[in-house]
Amino acid sequence: MKSMKVAVIGTGYVGLTTGVTLAYLGHQVTCVDVDPAKLALLRQGKAPIYEPGLEELMELARANLRYTDQYAEAVPEAEVVFIAVGTPSLPDGSPDLQYVRAAARGIGEHLGNGFCVVVNKSTVPIGSGNWVESLVREAYEGRYGRKCRGQFAVASNPEFLREGSAIHDSLYPDRIVVGAEDPKALEVLYNLYRPLIEQSFPAPTFAPRPERMEAVPLITADLASAELIKYAANAFLSVKISFINEIANLAERVGADISQVARGIGLDNRIGTRFLQAGVGWGGSCFGKDTAALIATGQEYGLAMPIVQAAREVNYRQRERMVEKLQRELKILKGRTIGLLGLAFKPNTDDLRDAPALDIARRLIERGAWVRAHDPVALDNARRSYPDLPITYYEDPLALAEEADALLLVTEWSQYRKLDWPAMAQAMRRPLLVDGRNFLDRRALLQAGFRYVGVGVGE
Ligand code: NAD
Ligand code: UGA
Repeated sequence: MKSMKVAVIGTGYVGLTTGVTLAYLGHQVTCVDVDPAKLALLRQGKAPIYEPGLEELMELARANLRYTDQYAEAVPEAEVVFIAVGTPSLPDGSPDLQYVRAAARGIGEHLGNGFCVVVNKSTVPIGSGNWVESLVREAYEGRYGRKCRGQFAVASNPEFLREGSAIHDSLYPDRIVVGAEDPKALEVLYNLYRPLIEQSFPAPTFAPRPERMEAVPLITADLASAELIKYAANAFLSVKISFINEIANLAERVGADISQVARGIGLDNRIGTRFLQAGVGWGGSCFGKDTAALIATGQEYGLAMPIVQAAREVNYRQRERMVEKLQRELKILKGRTIGLLGLAFKPNTDDLRDAPALDIARRLIERGAWVRAHDPVALDNARRSYPDLPITYYEDPLALAEEADALLLVTEWSQYRKLDWPAMAQAMRRPLLVDGRNFLDRRALLQAGFRYVGVGVGE
């Protein structure tokens, strides 16, 4: 394999995982970030985010990895430069592209003499490929006072990793999507990803290769199609989850069980069993932001996107339904103590962006309840990021249960299955558990003395 020189701009979930994975595959990777605290941790071999396997892979790839805040130390030599900075939502739903703009300018000002592929890995609106190309060009010409001819091409290479399984998803992707107008760019990226496509690298012990894993399909597309693939994928997954939640709400009324329904439809290969888990609904940094961005793009072209819109409405309404479940059981929420099990938007991460738990906590607090919360890894992030939220944090789930009126499981951390549930029931003022993920063993909970309320299960 030919080892290539790569620069990655932004060392968040996507940039760091991409950089570390490419370094593990044998490329020479320089990661650039503007956050000195992140860089300090990275230089000590520590991951600034909680992501299983990331630090281990950083260690294995150490010889091929460098970290810097200087574009000049990363870009001039690079054959491929990834833009992997954040694209958070603006109030109107469209993405804030200020970080992409700054990255593109920084790249343009430091382009070297060899041919370089500038890759949009951040999730960016359709048309961003052209826009980034114009920014890079303008910055280059502004700095050097001469035209840049054929020195670079822009490609789109959307990322599909999930937080909590980022390393697994990067080493064993379902597909790699690359969009570009310039065939040379496609060739460079094919060579870069060749070990992934052919799965010719040794699997790390902590991230074993899935059984029957074959070559990874490389989907080549034009720029606009690659950009749209990313939004369409996230929107489709959001719709799928909202759809099962809508059916779950009906299942509750008609006395059906949503787990049986999900299995019954999911085993039809055309539908598929994954992403049909009913519960508190989706959260995280991307489904909310990307569905909003897709709707904003639709509006620019005079299209309403009602299906995507409905997926959002169902999703955010689902959080309120959890509060209604508690209210139905407790009658009065004012003055009650509610313990939340799980704060992170999903297990195996400490990410709290658009986390359903925080939204539910706010709604409970508004209704006068006292809210406590436990999470195996996200408590520090919660204290740091939301210092004004009046939530009491507990390191020990049993202490959280002490004298509580109800527990609401929001995040399906595996350790919650192993709690001493009889002791939890004993400790509570009233042993009520609302299982917002249908995650716990209903029978065991009933035996432990709980009143158990799930999602999408008629009584
Ligand atoms: P993040 O917020 O975790 O990380 C972004 C990083 O970029 C930060 O470390 C920040 O300091 C750095 N940065 C900002 N401006 C910079 C600049 N001018 N130069 C260098 N570094 C700069 O973001 P993320 O979650 O990794 O997401 C990045 C992009 O990838 C977004 O567009 C997101 O939609 C997309 N995406 C995210 C995921 C995910 O699971 N988080 C998955 C797929 C795609
Ligand atoms: C999601 C996509 O799955 C990734 O492919 C994509 O790259 C990423 O967004 C992104 O663009 O950022 P992520 O948000 O990390 O990944 O996590 P998911 O596993 O997709 O879960 C998202 C939310 O949906 C979580 O809150 C999860 O609890 C919820 N979910 C998921 C359900 O409620 N039901 C399900 O069946 C599956």
